[in-house]
Amino acid sequence: MSPLLLLLLLPYASGLPFYNGFYYSNGPNGWGLGHGEGLFNGVKLVVETPEETLFTHQGANVTLPCRYHYEPALASPRPVRIKWWKLSENGAPEKDVLVAIGLRHRSFGDYQGRVHLRQEREWEVSLEIRDLQLEDYGRYRCEVIDGLEDESGLVELELRGVVFPYQPPQGRYQLNFHEAQQACEEQDAVLASFEQLFRAWEEGLDWCNAGWLQDASVQYPIMLPRQPCGGLGLAPGVRSYGPRHRRLHRYDVFCFATALKGRVYYLEHPEKLTLTEAKAACQEDGAQIAKVGQLFAAWKFRGLDRCDAGWLADGSVRYPVAHPRPNCGSAEPGVRSFGFPDPQSHKYGVYCYHQR
Ligand SMILES: *[C@@H]1O[C@H](CO)[C@@H](O)[C@H](O)[C@H]1NC(C)=O
Repeated sequence: MSPLLLLLLLPYASGLPFYNGFYYSNGPNGWGLGHGEGLFNGVKLVVETPEETLFTHQGANVTLPCRYHYEPALASPRPVRIKWWKLSENGAPEKDVLVAIGLRHRSFGDYQGRVHLRQEREWEVSLEIRDLQLEDYGRYRCEVIDGLEDESGLVELELRGVVFPYQPPQGRYQLNFHEAQQACEEQDAVLASFEQLFRAWEEGLDWCNAGWLQDASVQYPIMLPRQPCGGLGLAPGVRSYGPRHRRLHRYDVFCFATALKGRVYYLEHPEKLTLTEAKAACQEDGAQIAKVGQLFAAWKFRGLDRCDAGWLADGSVRYPVAHPRPNCGSAEPGVRSFGFPDPQSHKYGVYCYHQR
């Protein structure tokens, strides 16, 4: 190395950490700047959050646990700032949830009025979220800031739900991304995320049509490799077409419906009905004709099991089987579909949804 080059490198090679324009020593009483260390004057700030994912359902009140302490322990708490935020995910930006300084709190956006800091015990800074929304699931960071020190922990919140593939009455591969989003909403559901589809695949979902996911990628879950579904050469798994054009490309969709507050039931009625009659019959019963997402949720979380095909709000005809038996569809539990029969000339039963 030439002497000149050595000279130019020297200031950067001194081994001292550099921060805010000041040098700090690396000694036991100095400042450490590494992640997860949080050293000041030999005291370490530690933030604890649960490792397991929290599962909950739509409309629930939930507490995301978070505690902090110092090692070695401090006799009395020091003033700290707390910040809770939701990590960016599936193209959605990071969102501030709440900040607290002493007794003053401030919450942001859709979280306003729905969140507060739970501090029942010393060192507790858990986040309580009321009336959980579909968009609330994801990963949250609990950050504790003490002067220049800053430590955080992660809490993962998952809604209990069920993933189902959806195809509109017009048939296969008709939906662009925006229409797919709307199709799920019309079934009282949202676009599924990759994690949700992956978990559904682990639980046995096998579907040979590709569908949109929340991140605008198009994928499909295969348990049993077979010729018409990508061939025998590929391993079982969730197969991806990658990101597709949101407006120009058309596929089916995977929707995600969460456990329901209300109740889905097969309407006991003396005769079979057309779609129009079916809608009216549910209303006469003080209910509404059920949506596809509601039927899937009732099947998954309430064990709804009925061998009678019934109309649903979108004009499809389906029935839910929790306990497979002869003469009641295939050998696997699931929601069977008859597609979209002609609504005037075909008569079936009906599934209704009551809010309570
Ligand atoms: C959630 O908390 C609010 C306010 O404390 C309460 O009114 C509501 O009933 C709770 N909801 C559930 C589902 O427990």
